[in-house]
Order: sequence, then C-alpha cells, then structure tokens
Amino acid sequence: MTEIHGFIKPSRRPGELGIHSLDQFHFVVPDVAVARHFYSEFGLDVQEKGAVLTVNTQGHPHQWGTIGEGSRKKHGYMSFGAFEDDIVGFSERLQSMGIRRLDPPPGVDSNGLWFQDHDDNLVEIKVAPKSSPNEKTQFGVRAVGPGKRGAPFRSTMGRTHPRRLAHILMFTRDVQNAIDFYTRVLGMRLSDHSGDNIAFLHGIHGSDHHMIAFARSNAPGVHHLSWDVGTVDEIGEGAMHMVGKGFSKGWGLGRHVLGSNFFHYVQDPWGSFSEYSADIDYVPSDCDWPAGDFPPEDSFYAWGPNVPEDFVHNYEA
Ligand SMILES: [Fe+2]
Repeated sequence: MTEIHGFIKPSRRPGELGIHSLDQFHFVVPDVAVARHFYSEFGLDVQEKGAVLTVNTQGHPHQWGTIGEGSRKKHGYMSFGAFEDDIVGFSERLQSMGIRRLDPPPGVDSNGLWFQDHDDNLVEIKVAPKSSPNEKTQFGVRAVGPGKRGAPFRSTMGRTHPRRLAHILMFTRDVQNAIDFYTRVLGMRLSDHSGDNIAFLHGIHGSDHHMIAFARSNAPGVHHLSWDVGTVDEIGEGAMHMVGKGFSKGWGLGRHVLGSNFFHYVQDPWGSFSEYSADIDYVPSDCDWPAGDFPPEDSFYAWGPNVPEDFVHNYEA
C-alpha cells in the first residue's frame, strides 16, 4: 500500500461505538454580512458559498461550520463525524433506542443519520475524516534567554488566526438529560461536571477534554464556539484586535479549571461568544478520564476578571 506523505493515522479506541469529532456547526443570523465581518476579524476564513457562509481556519482544509440567514440568531444543527465502519452500528443503535430518523434539512446534501437530541436540536452523525486532534495540541510560550527581548512590538505584531474549532458550548434545559443522550446515543464520555449546572464531554477516540459542553438554561441555544490558538500571546493579540474593531465586550484573559485552557471570550453581535482557547487538557483514546463532580468555585475559572453579568444569558431563549 502506498503511504500518503504526512498522513497520521487517526487515533481510535478499539471495540467501542462513538463519534470521533464535532464535524460542523450550523446556525442562522439576521444578516450574514455582519457575521462575515465578525468572524473574519476574529481570524477565521469566512467565504460566501451560495446562500451560506462557510467557516474555515486558515491553512486547515476542514470546513468547521456554516452560517445562514434567519429572522434572529438561532442554532441550526450539529454534525458529528464517525468512522465509516461504525455507521451501521449507529443506525442500529438509533433504531434499537426508538430514535426516529429524519431527513436532512432542505438544501443540505447529506447521507448521514439525522435525528433530534434530548432538546429537539437537530443532530447528524456522518462519515467524516477525524478532525478532532489525535494528540495534545501544541502550546508554546514565547520565552527567551537573558540578553534578549521577549515581548513582541505592537507595531509589528501579527494577527491571530485560530488553528481549528475546539468545542461548542450549548445551553440545555436539562444537563443530566444532555449527558445521558450524548453518552448513550453518540457514545461520548463525561469528562467533568458541576452538579446539574454544567457538563463537559469528550470523544472516546482521542479528543480535547471537551468537544461539547452543556450549561443549564430554560431553552437550548449556542453559548459559544471555541477556537484553538497556540500561545497566550495569540489570545491577547486576538482580543486586542477585536477591541480595535469595536468588539470590546467579552471575558478574559483567564484560565478555566475544568479543561484547564487559557481563554478570552469575545461577545458577538448577537450576545453569544467566540472563545480564543489555548492549552486545553487532552484525553487520549486509551485514557479513562476520571470524571469528577466539582462545586461551582472549582469548576469555572482558576483566575481571571470578574464574570460579565450576561455571560450565561441565553439570547436564543
Ligand atoms: Fe469554551
């Protein structure tokens, strides 16, 4: 067999059925031009493709999501990637659990399995390349030896371009129902949670500490999309750039406890957030991560500024 140069075999936990990646998100906003401006300034590669915007990260072939037009900002669907030889198993699982299969949304060309989750969110499981990382993502510190300048000059500082979509945080009416559904149906594992306030789930075939997380609310909706960068400097540079473009509301710089990532959240024009994230914990495919239940004090952030009043407000409710 010919080996493809640079191809890294996706990591896989043998003998267990579970999705491997959060393949794509889709949501709608009232004006896609506003979305294009916001996410381009955030450092993403946003293109118009027919009626939707496609969202990529620069230099990465994967399309992380699409944004369409609607009367107000609203979550559309999430597509999860699975290995090709697992699709029959997922189809049988849906059937045995009595979960009704649905048609793909109009205009979406797909041969994946579509259904609704515990909150009636539209979900797809489809065959896709593993876009979740196969090892802990590289994180660097710009540290120099004695006799050298360490900090970048403002005048020559580059733009921040995230490397990949890291995770999505969804509001849910019931965190325990979310845990049950996404572990039993999609085959994910619970990483950690804080009572019935928030829960973090990872993929069993090697993924970040969370690929998806759920926070309690009175309705479903997207709280934030998280984008991976390689240094704390890039978080700061990205945040400063967004302030310069008028997107000054947000939260950061700080460090989460569950997941451990350094963060800065930028509030988008619809009240939800985009997160610059660096150095999140990683759960390899052969690791049984010891899921914990932590009190609020030990589950949110280790350090950072005060949390904005509307940080957990669900503007989609
Ligand atoms: Fe996050």
